[in-house]
Amino acid sequence: MASNEKSVWDSNISFILAMIGSAVGLGNIWRFPNVLYSNGGGSFMIPYIVSLFILGISFVLVEYAVGFRFKTSLSKIFFSIKARLEPIAWFIVLVVFLITTYYVCVVGWDLIYLGLSFVQGWGANPDVFFTVDVLHASDSLSGIFTIVPWVLLSVFLIWAFAWFIAQKDLNEGIGKVSKILLPVLLIIVIFIVAFSLTLPGASIGYKQIFTPNWSALTDLNVWLAAFGQIVFSLSLGMSIALTYASYLPETSKLTDNALIVAFSNSGFEVFNAIGIFSILGFMTFTSGIPFNELVTEGTGLAFVVFPNVFNLMQPWSMIIGPLFFACILFAGITSVMALLEVVSFAISEKFGFSRRKSATVVCIVGFCISSIFATSAGSYLLGIFDAFLNNFALLFGVLLECIIFGWIYNFDNLVETLNNHSTIQMDPFWPIIIKYILPICIFGLWAQGVYSTLLTGDSTSHMIMLCLSIVLIVVPIIFTLLPAKNEDYYNPIDGD
Ligand code: PFF
Repeated sequence: MASNEKSVWDSNISFILAMIGSAVGLGNIWRFPNVLYSNGGGSFMIPYIVSLFILGISFVLVEYAVGFRFKTSLSKIFFSIKARLEPIAWFIVLVVFLITTYYVCVVGWDLIYLGLSFVQGWGANPDVFFTVDVLHASDSLSGIFTIVPWVLLSVFLIWAFAWFIAQKDLNEGIGKVSKILLPVLLIIVIFIVAFSLTLPGASIGYKQIFTPNWSALTDLNVWLAAFGQIVFSLSLGMSIALTYASYLPETSKLTDNALIVAFSNSGFEVFNAIGIFSILGFMTFTSGIPFNELVTEGTGLAFVVFPNVFNLMQPWSMIIGPLFFACILFAGITSVMALLEVVSFAISEKFGFSRRKSATVVCIVGFCISSIFATSAGSYLLGIFDAFLNNFALLFGVLLECIIFGWIYNFDNLVETLNNHSTIQMDPFWPIIIKYILPICIFGLWAQGVYSTLLTGDSTSHMIMLCLSIVLIVVPIIFTLLPAKNEDYYNPIDGD
């Protein structure tokens, strides 16, 4: 499709499924259970629900309204609001791009485990297998020139699939894949949860979710953890919702859609957590390992704890194992497609590239950067990139977006857009949330993230973070200065 032919979703359901697909990802499957457990169990649902409304839904609505009103990419929107804001948009796009490069790598690891799960190829010691046999991991930069071939191959396959979808027409690519993968994902999760509840010891696990620790509610860190989970899980500030909403037809119902997406995403992660906890309960029951030692997050949970569980679950693990890794794969791929769309759309709008050309350029450069995560130093670097980009850069982007849309842009326009295109009318409290409450919460989260990142890293990681900071300043300036192919880019869109 030529760049001047604007893509439009062929139905509301395509948009909703693509949005849910973008939100439901690795964060829902392996981040949420640990955050829930470490922050008071059942009582965590209170800060979680408050954050969902105050932060999650409120901010998603901003992105929907802006994307729908301007119907263009983030960089052109910022340029239209004030020309000098364009580098901030490229900063956000670059953060999204860099996150995609390592997110693809984790999805690649999952692809390897999906293959292994049919034969329980991780053996009797999944911990050693993951770090030594799969990753060939070194805990410093020393392994940066040692490529790990199977990781590189799986990363390549994920990028190739992402490219194949991204270069297609919006509805033929993202729309169709979301319509297939999301229902399949839901069926798999229902099956896993139902099965896990029948396991001996399941109640040891799921009781943790329903046992509240009320004193946790007075702990500020618990509230910050809830905000952090909502930012991650709903992919806030990445301009995914903004980009997808820019493809909506005029007749769409914005607020209604936002509520469906936010509730589906949270419903998914809470429901999925019941399964994860029940399976960990089974592990405690059969192995005697205390429950609190099993609840880890991220790669530790998926690639170490779960393979250990599957070793104890024979012969059922032959079915549950592949389903579990397929679930992570599908959730990850739909998120990768969304991350890629943000970057690809921004490039095509500024440089007049076709959908195919911009997807190709972004995927080739993306694959080259991802290759550094397919080296022996890959998991070490990935940890640093993740800590820096998520705790620091992304939250900084959300903060800037709150200030730009809440204070610099005429916020009343967004209220008007939502009210004209929704069954539900906006509460007068919404502008207060976006202008005051949200920036304060995000600032708190950001300060905590910066503090913990600086405190925990070694000197090499601080050097890498410094280099990343320089890249995040220089590259957006270069992209801003590069002339747009299409002169029309410099005609500000009247968002008033
Ligand atoms: N919301 C998705 C997830 O929970 O995995 C997508 C995502 C969020 C990707 C944040 C990357 C990220 F840093």
